[in-house]
Amino acid sequence: MAHTRRKLAELDPVWAQIAQEAKAAIADEPLLGGLVHSSVLHHETFESALAYRISLKLTSNEMPEQILREICDKALASDPEIGLAARADIVAVNDRDPACDRFLLPLLFFKGFQAIQAYRIAHWLWTTGRRDLARFFQMRASEVFGVDIHPAARIGKGIMIDHAHSIVIGETAVVGDNVSMLHSVTLGGTGKEEEDRHPKIGNGVLIGAGAKVLGNIRVGNCSRIAAGSVVLQEVPPCKTVAGVPARIVGEAGCDQPSVKMDQLLGVRGTDDDSLDD
Ligand SMILES: CC(C)(COP(=O)(O)OP(=O)(O)OC[C@H]1O[C@@H](n2cnc3c(N)ncnc32)[C@H](O)[C@@H]1OP(=O)(O)O)[C@@H](O)C(=O)NCCC(=O)NCCS
Repeated sequence: MAHTRRKLAELDPVWAQIAQEAKAAIADEPLLGGLVHSSVLHHETFESALAYRISLKLTSNEMPEQILREICDKALASDPEIGLAARADIVAVNDRDPACDRFLLPLLFFKGFQAIQAYRIAHWLWTTGRRDLARFFQMRASEVFGVDIHPAARIGKGIMIDHAHSIVIGETAVVGDNVSMLHSVTLGGTGKEEEDRHPKIGNGVLIGAGAKVLGNIRVGNCSRIAAGSVVLQEVPPCKTVAGVPARIVGEAGCDQPSVKMDQLLGVRGTDDDSLDD
Protein backbone atom coordinates (compact mmCIF):
# COMPACT_ATOMS: atom_id res chain seq x y z
CA MET A 1 0.00 0.00 0.00
CA ALA A 2 2.80 2.38 1.01
CA HIS A 3 4.67 1.25 -2.11
CA THR A 4 1.63 2.06 -4.32
CA ARG A 5 1.30 5.46 -2.67
CA ARG A 6 4.99 6.19 -3.26
CA LYS A 7 4.70 5.11 -6.89
CA LEU A 8 1.66 7.37 -7.43
CA ALA A 9 3.44 10.28 -5.79
CA GLU A 10 6.33 9.80 -8.24
CA LEU A 11 4.15 9.39 -11.32
CA ASP A 12 1.53 12.01 -10.60
CA PRO A 13 2.49 14.21 -7.63
CA VAL A 14 -0.46 16.58 -8.07
CA TRP A 15 -3.05 13.81 -8.00
CA ALA A 16 -1.28 12.04 -5.12
CA GLN A 17 -1.39 15.22 -3.09
CA ILE A 18 -5.05 15.86 -3.90
CA ALA A 19 -5.97 12.33 -2.77
CA GLN A 20 -4.04 12.78 0.46
CA GLU A 21 -5.66 16.15 1.12
CA ALA A 22 -9.10 14.67 0.40
CA LYS A 23 -8.67 12.08 3.16
CA ALA A 24 -7.56 14.77 5.59
CA ALA A 25 -10.51 16.98 4.61
CA ILE A 26 -13.00 14.22 5.41
CA ALA A 27 -11.34 13.53 8.75
CA ASP A 28 -11.58 17.24 9.50
CA GLU A 29 -15.16 17.71 8.29
CA PRO A 30 -17.15 14.46 8.00
CA LEU A 31 -20.17 16.32 6.59
CA LEU A 32 -18.15 16.86 3.40
CA GLY A 33 -17.52 13.11 3.15
CA GLY A 34 -19.99 12.44 0.33
CA LEU A 35 -18.82 15.33 -1.80
CA VAL A 36 -15.12 14.63 -1.30
CA HIS A 37 -15.56 10.93 -1.87
CA SER A 38 -17.55 11.27 -5.08
CA SER A 39 -15.31 14.07 -6.38
CA VAL A 40 -11.89 12.68 -5.49
CA LEU A 41 -11.48 9.41 -3.62
CA HIS A 42 -13.86 7.47 -5.84
CA HIS A 43 -11.58 8.12 -8.83
CA GLU A 44 -8.37 6.37 -9.82
CA THR A 45 -6.99 9.22 -11.90
CA PHE A 46 -6.96 13.00 -11.87
CA GLU A 47 -8.55 12.98 -15.32
CA SER A 48 -11.50 10.91 -14.08
CA ALA A 49 -12.04 13.25 -11.11
CA LEU A 50 -11.83 16.30 -13.37
CA ALA A 51 -14.33 14.89 -15.88
CA TYR A 52 -16.72 14.08 -13.02
CA ARG A 53 -16.44 17.54 -11.45
CA ILE A 54 -16.87 19.47 -14.73
CA SER A 55 -19.83 17.42 -15.90
CA LEU A 56 -21.55 17.70 -12.53
CA LYS A 57 -21.17 21.49 -12.56
CA LEU A 58 -22.34 21.91 -16.17
CA THR A 59 -25.26 19.52 -16.24
CA SER A 60 -28.75 20.95 -16.56
CA ASN A 61 -32.23 19.82 -17.57
CA GLU A 62 -31.04 20.24 -21.15
CA MET A 63 -28.08 17.86 -20.97
CA PRO A 64 -27.63 14.81 -18.74
CA GLU A 65 -24.47 14.58 -16.66
CA GLN A 66 -23.65 11.19 -18.19
CA ILE A 67 -23.32 12.64 -21.70
CA LEU A 68 -21.18 15.53 -20.48
CA ARG A 69 -19.04 13.03 -18.58
CA GLU A 70 -18.48 10.95 -21.70
CA ILE A 71 -17.46 14.07 -23.65
CA CYS A 72 -15.04 15.15 -20.91
CA ASP A 73 -13.58 11.63 -20.60
CA LYS A 74 -13.04 11.49 -24.36
CA ALA A 75 -11.42 14.93 -24.49
CA LEU A 76 -9.08 14.16 -21.59
CA ALA A 77 -8.14 10.77 -23.07
CA SER A 78 -7.59 12.13 -26.59
CA ASP A 79 -5.51 15.12 -25.57
CA PRO A 80 -3.28 14.51 -22.52
CA GLU A 81 -2.25 18.18 -22.64
CA ILE A 82 -5.66 19.09 -21.15
CA GLY A 83 -4.99 17.14 -17.96
CA LEU A 84 -1.41 18.41 -17.75
CA ALA A 85 -2.55 22.02 -18.18
CA ALA A 86 -5.21 21.48 -15.48
CA ARG A 87 -2.54 20.21 -13.08
CA ALA A 88 -0.43 23.27 -13.89
CA ASP A 89 -3.48 25.48 -13.20
CA ILE A 90 -3.94 23.85 -9.78
CA VAL A 91 -0.30 24.39 -8.88
CA ALA A 92 -0.52 28.00 -10.12
CA VAL A 93 -3.59 28.75 -8.00
CA ASN A 94 -1.99 27.17 -4.95
CA ASP A 95 1.23 29.16 -5.53
CA ARG A 96 -0.37 32.52 -6.19
CA ASP A 97 -3.70 32.74 -4.38
CA PRO A 98 -3.10 33.55 -0.71
CA ALA A 99 -6.58 32.14 0.02
CA CYS A 100 -5.58 28.70 -1.33
CA ASP A 101 -3.58 26.38 0.89
CA ARG A 102 -4.26 23.02 -0.76
CA PHE A 103 -4.39 21.52 -4.27
CA LEU A 104 -7.80 20.10 -3.33
CA LEU A 105 -9.54 23.47 -3.14
CA PRO A 106 -9.53 24.55 -6.83
CA LEU A 107 -10.88 21.15 -7.91
CA LEU A 108 -13.69 21.22 -5.34
CA PHE A 109 -14.58 24.86 -4.87
CA PHE A 110 -12.86 27.46 -7.08
CA LYS A 111 -14.99 28.48 -10.02
CA GLY A 112 -12.12 30.19 -11.81
CA PHE A 113 -10.30 26.86 -12.02
CA GLN A 114 -13.45 24.95 -12.94
CA ALA A 115 -14.34 27.49 -15.62
CA ILE A 116 -10.95 27.18 -17.31
CA GLN A 117 -11.27 23.41 -17.36
CA ALA A 118 -14.72 23.71 -18.94
CA TYR A 119 -13.13 26.02 -21.53
CA ARG A 120 -10.37 23.46 -22.17
CA ILE A 121 -12.99 20.82 -23.02
CA ALA A 122 -14.89 23.34 -25.17
CA HIS A 123 -11.66 24.23 -27.00
CA TRP A 124 -11.01 20.55 -27.72
CA LEU A 125 -14.54 20.21 -29.10
CA TRP A 126 -14.03 23.36 -31.21
CA THR A 127 -10.74 22.17 -32.66
CA THR A 128 -12.17 18.74 -33.44
CA GLY A 129 -15.00 20.34 -35.41
CA ARG A 130 -17.85 19.90 -32.91
CA ARG A 131 -18.55 23.59 -32.73
CA ASP A 132 -22.16 23.58 -31.55
CA LEU A 133 -21.29 21.29 -28.65
CA ALA A 134 -18.37 23.63 -27.88
CA ARG A 135 -20.82 26.52 -27.78
CA PHE A 136 -23.02 24.53 -25.41
CA PHE A 137 -20.06 24.19 -23.02
CA GLN A 138 -19.34 27.92 -23.40
CA MET A 139 -22.95 28.80 -22.59
CA ARG A 140 -23.13 26.54 -19.53
CA ALA A 141 -19.77 27.75 -18.17
CA SER A 142 -20.98 31.32 -18.60
CA GLU A 143 -24.29 30.56 -16.84
CA VAL A 144 -22.73 28.55 -14.03
CA PHE A 145 -19.44 30.37 -13.38
CA GLY A 146 -19.98 33.83 -14.91
CA VAL A 147 -16.93 33.20 -17.10
CA ASP A 148 -17.52 33.57 -20.83
CA ILE A 149 -14.57 32.24 -22.83
CA HIS A 150 -15.00 31.68 -26.55
CA PRO A 151 -13.98 28.08 -27.33
CA ALA A 152 -11.71 29.23 -30.16
CA ALA A 153 -9.56 31.38 -27.85
CA ARG A 154 -6.11 29.93 -27.14
CA ILE A 155 -5.08 29.79 -23.50
CA GLY A 156 -1.84 28.41 -22.04
CA LYS A 157 -1.24 26.50 -18.84
CA GLY A 158 -0.63 27.60 -15.26
CA ILE A 159 -3.57 30.01 -15.41
CA MET A 160 -5.20 31.52 -12.35
CA ILE A 161 -8.52 33.37 -12.61
CA ASP A 162 -9.19 34.58 -9.08
CA HIS A 163 -12.78 35.23 -7.93
CA ALA A 164 -13.80 34.80 -11.56
CA HIS A 165 -16.98 36.82 -11.76
CA SER A 166 -17.65 38.40 -15.10
CA ILE A 167 -14.67 37.31 -17.18
CA VAL A 168 -14.94 37.70 -20.96
CA ILE A 169 -12.31 36.31 -23.36
CA GLY A 170 -13.02 36.75 -27.05
CA GLU A 171 -12.71 34.43 -30.01
CA THR A 172 -9.29 35.45 -31.34
CA ALA A 173 -7.67 36.16 -27.96
CA VAL A 174 -4.43 34.37 -27.04
CA VAL A 175 -3.33 34.02 -23.43
CA GLY A 176 0.19 32.73 -22.69
CA ASP A 177 1.41 30.54 -19.84
CA ASN A 178 1.41 31.49 -16.17
CA VAL A 179 -1.04 34.34 -16.56
CA SER A 180 -3.09 35.51 -13.57
CA MET A 181 -6.23 37.56 -13.79
CA LEU A 182 -8.68 38.85 -11.24
CA HIS A 183 -12.44 39.21 -11.64
CA SER A 184 -14.19 41.36 -14.25
CA VAL A 185 -11.40 41.22 -16.82
CA THR A 186 -12.33 41.61 -20.48
CA LEU A 187 -10.06 40.56 -23.34
CA GLY A 188 -12.30 41.96 -26.02
CA GLY A 189 -12.56 43.70 -29.35
CA THR A 190 -12.85 47.43 -29.91
CA GLY A 191 -15.72 46.96 -32.35
CA LYS A 192 -13.55 48.57 -35.03
CA GLU A 193 -11.60 45.50 -36.13
CA GLU A 194 -12.78 42.36 -37.87
CA GLU A 195 -11.47 38.78 -37.89
CA ASP A 196 -8.36 38.78 -35.66
CA ARG A 197 -9.62 41.41 -33.22
CA HIS A 198 -8.72 40.37 -29.67
CA PRO A 199 -5.64 40.84 -27.45
CA LYS A 200 -2.56 38.64 -27.38
CA ILE A 201 -1.41 38.29 -23.78
CA GLY A 202 2.17 37.13 -23.17
CA ASN A 203 3.51 34.75 -20.53
CA GLY A 204 3.57 35.65 -16.85
CA VAL A 205 1.22 38.64 -17.18
CA LEU A 206 -0.88 39.87 -14.24
CA ILE A 207 -4.21 41.47 -15.17
CA GLY A 208 -5.84 43.33 -12.29
CA ALA A 209 -9.52 43.30 -11.39
CA GLY A 210 -11.81 45.10 -13.81
CA ALA A 211 -9.13 45.69 -16.45
CA LYS A 212 -10.33 45.85 -20.05
CA VAL A 213 -7.81 44.99 -22.76
CA LEU A 214 -9.32 45.85 -26.11
CA GLY A 215 -8.27 45.22 -29.69
CA ASN A 216 -5.68 43.08 -31.41
CA ILE A 217 -2.81 44.37 -29.29
CA ARG A 218 0.12 42.58 -27.70
CA VAL A 219 0.69 42.62 -23.97
CA GLY A 220 4.35 41.70 -23.45
CA ASN A 221 5.64 38.91 -21.23
CA CYS A 222 5.71 39.56 -17.48
CA SER A 223 3.87 42.87 -17.67
CA ARG A 224 1.22 44.03 -15.22
CA ILE A 225 -2.08 45.72 -15.94
CA ALA A 226 -3.44 47.69 -13.00
CA ALA A 227 -6.95 47.18 -11.70
CA GLY A 228 -9.58 49.13 -13.62
CA SER A 229 -7.33 50.00 -16.55
CA VAL A 230 -8.53 50.26 -20.11
CA VAL A 231 -5.65 49.08 -22.30
CA LEU A 232 -5.88 50.19 -25.92
CA GLN A 233 -2.23 50.10 -26.97
CA GLU A 234 0.55 47.54 -26.99
CA VAL A 235 2.20 46.96 -23.60
CA PRO A 236 5.96 46.29 -23.71
CA PRO A 237 7.33 43.34 -21.73
CA CYS A 238 8.02 43.81 -18.00
CA LYS A 239 6.13 47.11 -17.64
CA THR A 240 3.24 48.12 -15.41
CA VAL A 241 0.42 50.04 -17.07
CA ALA A 242 -2.47 51.79 -15.35
CA GLY A 243 -5.34 54.16 -15.97
CA VAL A 244 -7.94 54.98 -18.59
CA PRO A 245 -6.52 54.86 -21.17
CA ALA A 246 -3.64 52.87 -19.70
CA ARG A 247 -0.14 54.40 -19.64
CA ILE A 248 3.15 52.95 -18.48
CA VAL A 249 3.57 53.75 -14.78
CA GLY A 250 6.64 51.63 -14.00
CA GLU A 251 8.57 48.40 -14.29
CA ALA A 252 6.90 45.09 -13.48
CA GLY A 253 9.82 42.76 -12.79
CA CYS A 254 10.10 39.37 -14.49
CA ASP A 255 9.09 36.90 -11.83
CA GLN A 256 7.54 33.72 -13.16
CA PRO A 257 6.55 31.69 -10.11
CA SER A 258 5.41 28.66 -12.05
CA VAL A 259 8.60 27.90 -13.98
CA LYS A 260 9.65 25.23 -11.52
CA MET A 261 6.29 23.59 -11.78
CA ASP A 262 6.60 23.54 -15.59
CA GLN A 263 9.73 21.42 -15.27
CA LEU A 264 8.05 19.11 -12.81
CA LEU A 265 5.14 18.35 -15.08
CA GLY A 266 6.96 18.69 -18.39
CA VAL A 267 4.03 20.49 -20.03
CA ARG A 268 4.33 22.42 -23.26
CA GLY A 269 3.46 26.08 -23.78
CA THR A 270 1.10 27.57 -26.35
CA ASP A 271 2.27 27.22 -29.91
CA ASP A 272 2.12 30.97 -30.52
CA ASP A 273 5.72 32.03 -31.29
CA SER A 274 4.59 35.63 -31.59
CA LEU A 275 4.41 35.77 -27.79
CA ASP A 276 8.11 34.96 -27.33
CA ASP A 277 9.31 38.47 -26.65
C1 LIG B 1 -0.59 48.26 -10.65
C2 LIG B 1 -0.37 47.53 -9.34
C3 LIG B 1 0.05 46.10 -9.66
C4 LIG B 1 0.66 48.22 -8.48
O1 LIG B 1 1.92 48.29 -9.11
P1 LIG B 1 3.10 49.15 -8.44
O2 LIG B 1 4.28 49.01 -9.30
O3 LIG B 1 3.21 48.79 -7.01
O4 LIG B 1 2.53 50.59 -8.66
P2 LIG B 1 2.43 51.78 -7.61
O5 LIG B 1 1.44 51.44 -6.56
O6 LIG B 1 3.82 52.18 -7.21
O7 LIG B 1 1.81 52.89 -8.54
C5 LIG B 1 2.48 53.46 -9.64
C6 LIG B 1 1.58 54.55 -10.19
O8 LIG B 1 0.42 53.93 -10.79
C7 LIG B 1 -0.76 54.39 -10.17
N1 LIG B 1 -1.70 53.27 -10.06
C8 LIG B 1 -1.51 52.10 -9.43
N2 LIG B 1 -2.59 51.33 -9.58
C9 LIG B 1 -3.47 52.03 -10.33
C10 LIG B 1 -4.76 51.73 -10.83
N3 LIG B 1 -5.37 50.57 -10.58
N4 LIG B 1 -5.38 52.68 -11.59
C11 LIG B 1 -4.78 53.87 -11.86
N5 LIG B 1 -3.54 54.18 -11.42
C12 LIG B 1 -2.91 53.29 -10.65
C13 LIG B 1 -0.32 54.92 -8.81
O9 LIG B 1 -1.21 55.87 -8.32
C14 LIG B 1 1.03 55.49 -9.12
O10 LIG B 1 0.87 56.74 -9.73
P3 LIG B 1 1.89 57.97 -9.39
O11 LIG B 1 3.25 57.48 -9.84
O12 LIG B 1 1.34 59.08 -10.22
O13 LIG B 1 1.80 58.16 -7.92
C15 LIG B 1 -1.64 47.54 -8.47
O14 LIG B 1 -2.00 48.88 -8.21
C16 LIG B 1 -2.84 46.84 -9.10
O15 LIG B 1 -3.69 47.42 -9.78
N6 LIG B 1 -2.94 45.49 -8.81
C17 LIG B 1 -4.09 44.71 -9.19
C18 LIG B 1 -4.75 44.29 -7.89
C19 LIG B 1 -6.15 43.76 -8.03
O16 LIG B 1 -6.69 43.57 -9.10
N7 LIG B 1 -6.75 43.49 -6.87
C20 LIG B 1 -8.05 42.92 -6.79
C21 LIG B 1 -8.01 41.94 -5.66
S1 LIG B 1 -9.59 41.23 -5.44
